[in-house]
Amino acid sequence: MKKDDTKLDHLFPTFKDARKRTKSEVENIEFELDPKYLNLGNGKKYLIQTYGCQANEADSEVMAGILERIGFTKASNPEDSDLIILNTCAIRENAENRIWGEIGRLSHYQKTNPNLIIGLAGCMPQEPDVVERILKKQHAVGLVFGTHNIHKLPEYIYDAYLSKERVIQVYSKEGEIIENLPKIRNHQFKAWVNIMYGCDEFCTYCIVPYTRGKERSRLPEDVILEVEELVKAGYQEVTLLGQNVNAYGKDFKELDYTLGDLLNDLDKTGISRIRFTTSHPRDLDLKTILAMKELKSVMPHLHLPVQSGSDEVLRRMNRRYTKEMYMEKVNLLKEHVKGISITTDIIVGFPNESDQDFEDTLDLVREAKFEGAYTFIYSKRKGTPAAIFEDDTPADVKKKRLLKLNELINAGFKEGNQRFLDEVVEVLVDGPSEKDEAVLAGYTPHNKLINFKGSKSLIGKIVKVKVTKALTWSLQGKLYSNEI
Ligand code: SAH
Ligand code: SF4
Ligand code: F3S
Repeated sequence: MKKDDTKLDHLFPTFKDARKRTKSEVENIEFELDPKYLNLGNGKKYLIQTYGCQANEADSEVMAGILERIGFTKASNPEDSDLIILNTCAIRENAENRIWGEIGRLSHYQKTNPNLIIGLAGCMPQEPDVVERILKKQHAVGLVFGTHNIHKLPEYIYDAYLSKERVIQVYSKEGEIIENLPKIRNHQFKAWVNIMYGCDEFCTYCIVPYTRGKERSRLPEDVILEVEELVKAGYQEVTLLGQNVNAYGKDFKELDYTLGDLLNDLDKTGISRIRFTTSHPRDLDLKTILAMKELKSVMPHLHLPVQSGSDEVLRRMNRRYTKEMYMEKVNLLKEHVKGISITTDIIVGFPNESDQDFEDTLDLVREAKFEGAYTFIYSKRKGTPAAIFEDDTPADVKKKRLLKLNELINAGFKEGNQRFLDEVVEVLVDGPSEKDEAVLAGYTPHNKLINFKGSKSLIGKIVKVKVTKALTWSLQGKLYSNEI
């Protein structure tokens, strides 16, 4: 579907604008739908494919909500779809390569359905190079929008259908916080709840501050209301989302209110379980740790990305803490939140990471006793400061480091599971296990995956399970009691 690009005004992102941070207050506005869009999707089907982090998962729920509000229904496969949106991630090069391949694959469906619109959304379109490549080479893509203008989807779809032109609308700068966005949630008793958007940390390797804009916190009353409604609808667990949730509230001008306060207020809504992600070690404060200690609803698991155990690498990453400072936080957590499980993210092969730097990371992993980690080989992201750092570490050395690190991490994962052997744990039952329909799967407060036999009527409930076996990646157990 080669389209003429000249008739519509496209809006392109630039990293220069995306980098800017202004002190101006961010407005909160309500989502409104122009009635002229109401039946736009009648008789049409959509598919959304989500990549990347929970921020994208939550955004895809909003996209689905908006599409269904304007009449679309969900398709079961690409053949049936009139609109396929790829909600993309830009964090590493291989995440992007997957998307280019997927666009090629999906474009074949346009041969049998020339009206099929393939849309690109999420973090990739926030990169100028990506938009340029789409304009020049990827003619299958008919709709491009970014992370800051999802609420304008009805308008873009209207333009795309009416004009039969490609619609490319990507803002460099974040706009207002939009409340009351329609959502089709993927889960019936676990929900994502955004508490803030954007990131101001500017870790030197990371693209997120450019793709997600400046930090903006949702007002406490809006978050509390959303959770209250979830409780009324039968939800058991919320995961509060932000790139750096420990900075929640720092942008409020008049209000002195941070994550610890929010956790206390959300506990009062009666929600059974609260999790939050992601935490930045430097911003993690005592108030939050005490909330984890004192509130039964706040789960004893924390994902606390460390990235490296070398002070020199941390400095070049602009993480603004040292190994010692990180360990102080870990020890404070362990002291207050008895039995806490801590997981992390680690990057190996950051530019010029030496053997000694890597050894320092291994030391830290041993000391912190992580019970799981996402580990990555550094991927150069154009436009970020680290992209021009010198790097003379060969690729095969980086791969070997990753393997060595993973061995250690996996041992920690297993040890973390083993400590629950013979214990009775509370499990929020997710559904049948992926491997065996007759087995149920769920998560413990410490975020350990556990499988056990039980009736499907338990799905969505919190039950007690006795742990009978500890494997590396999961626990096995026996139903102990249907109630807690
Ligand atoms: N805001 C979160 C999540 C960021 S992305 C946080 O600060 O933890 C998730 C993880 O991807 C990061 O923690 C980091 O370990 C990894 N990551 C980010 N940029 C990367 C890059 N350029 N190369 C490799 N890994 C990267
Ligand atoms: Fe990226 Fe750092 Fe922000 Fe996390 S805190 S999103 S790693 S810049
Ligand atoms: Fe990826 Fe964007 Fe999340 S780059 S990790 S989807 S914020």
